[in-house]
Amino acid sequence: MYNRRRGTPQRLLQELSYDGRILAIDRDRETLERTAGEINDPRVTFKLGDFRYLESILIEIGWEQVDGILLDLGVSSFQLDDAERGFSFRQDAVLDMRMNRSQNYSARELVNEYSEEDLRRIIYQYGEEKYARSIARAIVKNRELQHIETTMQLADIIKSAVPQSYRREKHPARKTFQAIRIEVNRELEAIEEVLPQAVNVLQTGGRLCVITFHSLEDRLVKQFLQRESKDCVCPPGLPVCTCGHKPRLKLVNRKALLPDDAECEINPRARSAKLRVASRI
Ligand SMILES: C[S@@+](CC[C@H](N)C(=O)[O-])C[C@H]1O[C@@H](n2cnc3c(N)ncnc32)[C@H](O)[C@@H]1O
Repeated sequence: MYNRRRGTPQRLLQELSYDGRILAIDRDRETLERTAGEINDPRVTFKLGDFRYLESILIEIGWEQVDGILLDLGVSSFQLDDAERGFSFRQDAVLDMRMNRSQNYSARELVNEYSEEDLRRIIYQYGEEKYARSIARAIVKNRELQHIETTMQLADIIKSAVPQSYRREKHPARKTFQAIRIEVNRELEAIEEVLPQAVNVLQTGGRLCVITFHSLEDRLVKQFLQRESKDCVCPPGLPVCTCGHKPRLKLVNRKALLPDDAECEINPRARSAKLRVASRI
């Protein structure tokens, strides 16, 4: 949770009543400590942890239910811009990409140990990269000669595996780096795990707000919210409903909310953001 211009915690605090409370969770110790250092407000509790354990975290700190949840997903500008964290294909550093640096598995292990087939699969699925097959092949061929240790080494291998014309579009390593980051941090699993827990802990009328930054995240969130807001989830074609499903959410916006031009101007990284909101029934 960090944004160089105006972070969401600061923005939420502007709207919070004097006796309101915020629990701010992040699995990145540096980000959390940095944000805690900037916000000196007794209404905020900072908690180092993975939001996939949301219900346990709330039990641990003695909270039962909450009035609102904001999931601001993905990676922060602070993480991307800190070369040393190894998230960026634009800055040379040891390949890392761990949000939680006490995790013993980083991008370096992934790139040097995954089979060619697993590399192809994650680059294709999580990067939606059409050259996944040739990139995976190039990674395996290169690592047989020399261990892949740095972001630039990897970015150069990716560049060499795609056609010239593709190199002129966006940076050819962008999608593969996204895929590796998602896999290292098990980002999609965490979203699938947190969403049902978020609904469980919301008070009636409470709001669940989720900001996503790419289509894979957004698809998961959209499908979850749609399912949770339906009266029936039986397969299509059944003559009578047998599922007994009860909606637990009501969509506040049918379509995702997008940032306007002014916001994108101030913060270009907001361009791909989508906000979905639902309220607990
Ligand atoms: C887009 S940034 C949030 C930016 C922040 N809201 C702000 O305004 O500055 C996403 C943050 O979520 C954290 N994060 C991602 N997955 C997480 C997880 N499963 N558990 C806890 N934190 C997570 C990342 O470490 C990162 O700091």
